[in-house]
Amino acid sequence: LIYFSFIRYININMKIAILGSGGREHAIAFSVSKSKKIKQIYCIPGNAGTNELGENINIEINDFKKIHDFIIDKRIDLVIVGPEDPLVNGIVDYLEKFKIQVFGPNKTASRLEGSKIFTKNICKNYNIPTSRFEIFENREDSKKFLKNADHPLVIKADNLAAGKGVYICKNIRESNLAVEEIFGGKFGVAKNILFEEFLQGEEMSFFIISDGSTIKKFGTAQDHKRVGEGDTGKNTGGMGAYSPSRLINDNLEKKIFNKIIHPTLKGLSDLGTKYKGFLYVGLMIVNNEPYLIEYNVRMGDPECQTILPLLNSDIVDIFIACLKEKLHEVQIEWSNKKSVCVVLCSEGYPETYQKNIEIKNFDKIKLDDNNFLFHAGTRINDNKVFAIGGRVLNFISLSEDFTACRKNIHNNLNKLNWDKGFFRKDIGFKVIDK
Ligand code: AMP
Ligand code: GLY
Repeated sequence: LIYFSFIRYININMKIAILGSGGREHAIAFSVSKSKKIKQIYCIPGNAGTNELGENINIEINDFKKIHDFIIDKRIDLVIVGPEDPLVNGIVDYLEKFKIQVFGPNKTASRLEGSKIFTKNICKNYNIPTSRFEIFENREDSKKFLKNADHPLVIKADNLAAGKGVYICKNIRESNLAVEEIFGGKFGVAKNILFEEFLQGEEMSFFIISDGSTIKKFGTAQDHKRVGEGDTGKNTGGMGAYSPSRLINDNLEKKIFNKIIHPTLKGLSDLGTKYKGFLYVGLMIVNNEPYLIEYNVRMGDPECQTILPLLNSDIVDIFIACLKEKLHEVQIEWSNKKSVCVVLCSEGYPETYQKNIEIKNFDKIKLDDNNFLFHAGTRINDNKVFAIGGRVLNFISLSEDFTACRKNIHNNLNKLNWDKGFFRKDIGFKVIDK
């Protein structure tokens, strides 16, 4: 066992705060809780699952002042930011002004997710493979462009729209409607609209972690964004995922680093900034060639829940290494197992669903070193768990093969037998039901 210089200096009684309340944050809290260096975990605001690993603190994640006051009051050593919203709003810059240690990208770097046009311009200036695109500022120019545009056509609002705000239009009628909705303010004030060539291929989520100078791969996954079996129906936040992606190979990985990630970080560096944190590279793979669809400046959800249980290294060492710009000194070790995550949702999601419905039978679920349950939209009251969100619970299983993973998950889901919930039974179908 090698002890690297900086690890010897890590406080072994650390207090860590995790911002967010989803399955991703429960998964991060779980990984953090396995570290021997932790004394206390706070989740802001957390959910019924994180409540078992630490203390939930009811502060709104965009209330930077209150978060700052809490961190100072509790003498918190390290803050991990889960979701994009506070990152894009500049929470890292805000807290760093007070010398608080915070893991995540700064406001400028977070524009990679906050503005699709910012990212497209980096792609153009650094020759990064992505779909061809056009940007317009108003309805009139947009509609003029549409008259001669090929379909299917992808149309996007240029702001954070929580996974919404993306249209795949089959014809000009649908395109015109999308233009009306975006400039009509459906996703907030729209200064710009983005038209993109439709890419035909298979999607892959590719993750890295960076300390600003060193970057390391942090797993791959395939997400299932549509609500219905066989990838049909409305888009959701993610109905399940498997890891590793069936598409990844050494040659493709090299292309992703050389053609996409390195030039992007060069672009940020030319703007005078560094990237520190997780970076989610959303790709379309067309004949073993990667095309960038989007960046997210955080881990994916549910990819994070799928990937983190495979991590064998101490995640706190990794976070600290990033904050000290010493990521090159840590080995990130992974299990060779396969992982599947199935999301249990509230009936009606992604449209309207009931809130505050009790979930029972948690004692029937079998969890061990290979089977995990991460909460998402839940809260605890009087020792009872209530569903309060659309995506409610994440069931994860690790195994030598994907088929066994899914079988274990279905066993647990059947034991829970929540009659107000539903899940996709075909998660991982591309690697299981071939
Ligand atoms: P985004 O929010 O940019 O990730 O878009 C949401 C989803 O729309 C993606 O996960 C893809 O499934 C799809 N999508 C986005 N852009 C394209 C494109 N240029 N070609 C094909 N599909 C796309
Ligand atoms: N899994 C999609 C996302 O996290 O944006």
